[in-house]
Amino acid sequence: MEIKTSIQRAPGAPSLPDTPLRFIVHFVARYRAWYLAMFVFESAHASFGIMIPYAVGQVIKGVTHESSAGRTALTGELRGALTLFVALIVGEFLFSRIAGLCQILVGPWQRQNVTRNLYAYLQHHSHRYLSNNFAGALAHRISETSMGVSQTLWAVLFDFWPIAIVFSVSIGLLYRAHPELAAFVSVWAVLFVGISYWLATRCQPHAVRAAAARSETTGKVVDSVTNLTSARLFARFGFEREYLDEQLARELRAVRRSNWYSERVRWFQFASAALLKVGTLYQALRLWQRGDIDVAEFVMATSLSLLIINEARNLSRRFLEFFEFVGNVANGVNTIVRSHELVDRPGAVAPQIERGHIELRRVSFGYTPDQPIFERLDVTIPRGQRVGLVGFSGSGKSTFVSLLLRLYEIDAGQIAIDGVDIRDMTQDALHAQISLIPQDPSLFHRTLLENIRYGRLDATDEEVVEAARKAHAHEFIAQMKEGYRSMVGERGVKLSGGQRQRIAIARVILKNAPILLLDEATSSLDSITEKAIQDTLDGVMKGKTVLVVAHRLSTVVHLDRILVFDNGRIIEDGTHAELLARGGAYKRLWSKQSDGFLPERAAEDAEEPAPIEAPPVRLHEAPRQQPAADGADGRADGRPLAAPLKAWEAPLA
Ligand SMILES: Nc1ncnc2c1ncn2[C@@H]1O[C@H](COP(=O)(O)OP(=O)(O)OP(=O)(O)O)[C@@H](O)[C@H]1O
Ligand SMILES: [Mg+2]
Repeated sequence: MEIKTSIQRAPGAPSLPDTPLRFIVHFVARYRAWYLAMFVFESAHASFGIMIPYAVGQVIKGVTHESSAGRTALTGELRGALTLFVALIVGEFLFSRIAGLCQILVGPWQRQNVTRNLYAYLQHHSHRYLSNNFAGALAHRISETSMGVSQTLWAVLFDFWPIAIVFSVSIGLLYRAHPELAAFVSVWAVLFVGISYWLATRCQPHAVRAAAARSETTGKVVDSVTNLTSARLFARFGFEREYLDEQLARELRAVRRSNWYSERVRWFQFASAALLKVGTLYQALRLWQRGDIDVAEFVMATSLSLLIINEARNLSRRFLEFFEFVGNVANGVNTIVRSHELVDRPGAVAPQIERGHIELRRVSFGYTPDQPIFERLDVTIPRGQRVGLVGFSGSGKSTFVSLLLRLYEIDAGQIAIDGVDIRDMTQDALHAQISLIPQDPSLFHRTLLENIRYGRLDATDEEVVEAARKAHAHEFIAQMKEGYRSMVGERGVKLSGGQRQRIAIARVILKNAPILLLDEATSSLDSITEKAIQDTLDGVMKGKTVLVVAHRLSTVVHLDRILVFDNGRIIEDGTHAELLARGGAYKRLWSKQSDGFLPERAAEDAEEPAPIEAPPVRLHEAPRQQPAADGADGRADGRPLAAPLKAWEAPLA
């Protein structure tokens, strides 16, 4: 079903309304028969329930009538009243349970449907969107929204609607008995609902603050527990407890204030209940004394007041919960059902990339308009060429790779592969034909087998093992207790950085796409493993167009061509030998590098005389400090933490 919205939606994403109310209505409409049934049964349940006092009144009338006549037999009148009474009780019970049955059938079904649709919608959000939102928060939003839709509807169907029926049927019954009784209860009901609602709105900010304080406490405890080892190693247990105590004190204040408001609401409710019961009793008594109502009506009026209070009790709390449910839905819809930033054009093609000829024409791009990275960049990479991208940290190499993958939309110019603008291709087609090995690959919390097979889902076990062998991953996998069936932990935390990279290489070997991008793909490997994998990669690169981003120049010397990046510009372009002969920036980098690494920029600026001979790459050096080994964020090589592909992995993983 196509829904009219002003937002831009990717083809293939489900059509969802972008306001909370329409979102809820949309999912009600999908199960309209069920909701109609629940509505009818719940109406019957509430009406039957509230008719019971009427039946009781009739029974009492029958009994007094019979006893005044000195009889004890069940005559027609009494029998009729009793039958009505039993029918109402059975009906109330049956209809309530049938409505409940519908609820338990349709509830989980609908929740899953909302989850499925929101997830499918989320999948099409851009790389930028995913970098800006935390994965945990998005997952939480999806589950809150799916719960929220059901909870909102249950509140309307099973809380508010029955109350409305109870009020109107009882006012009708009381009116038949005496208009004065009806008038009293009507005025009471209007005031009660109005004040309950008003109190709920007054309570809401306090309840929201208390909930926020509670979740902040949870967050702080989680953070503290996560870093328990740090606390231990710095002997800061006491400090951590005090830190938590401060938060607990804040939470206590917020929760107390909220509870205090709730308590006031309860005072109001008890007072209103008492007023209704005493007021109805008093009035009914007066009318009975005046002979305006009979015993049956007297009994009915007083028991109705009890039933009304029973039903409408906690109305403020229900309003409060209702606000929360609607708020959850609004939150989820506003976060997730937004315009997709990067969508396939209508009529986008899915060409088979045959040659892998890459061309950038006058490409301009910046992550923000005020900070351009590339300005009118022109590069042509012919088919089958293997190109190294080098340059200082932050010079734009990873950004270049991201643009080829169309993770971001360029501001001007054109990127074409085999002559087709990548904006005219479907993103699926583009991504199916380009492989990327990022610096810090993230793995699914699934088995190694599944992680490698992700490269080609129909690969046989033998092919997976073969790919793992080529990526030099088979050895360490074979040593694990469960081998290829081992789970890798969230994001692959149970593997070392170098092991993760080898799994990423294996899955790319299986994928076998015509264009291959390596962004520091072997940076976490020791020199010996890297050298071994280099041979495999050289094999994998055969016949493909390849881009290799590397800080370790030894990784790129043997490639066909090297591009030197500086501040978003390509300042040198040529083979290793040509660039050395030119004696420019590359020559300086090469001369200054130690063990095949780029120097820090500060060192480069110091302008020392450069040694003529390039240092050979030593294969027997001690393994350098691995990024994976020095904590989640610390980098031994001083690179920024927010390299684009890293940012892409991190928040979502
Ligand atoms: N997601 C992002 N949002 C905003 N700015 C970004 C983002 N990613 C990178 N940048 C900025 O863009 C510039 C180029 O970054 P890029 O990651 O392309 O450099 P790099 O050459 O790959 O560096 P490194 O060698 O450290 O990986 C840097 O100034 C960086 O701070
Ligand atoms: Mg980078």
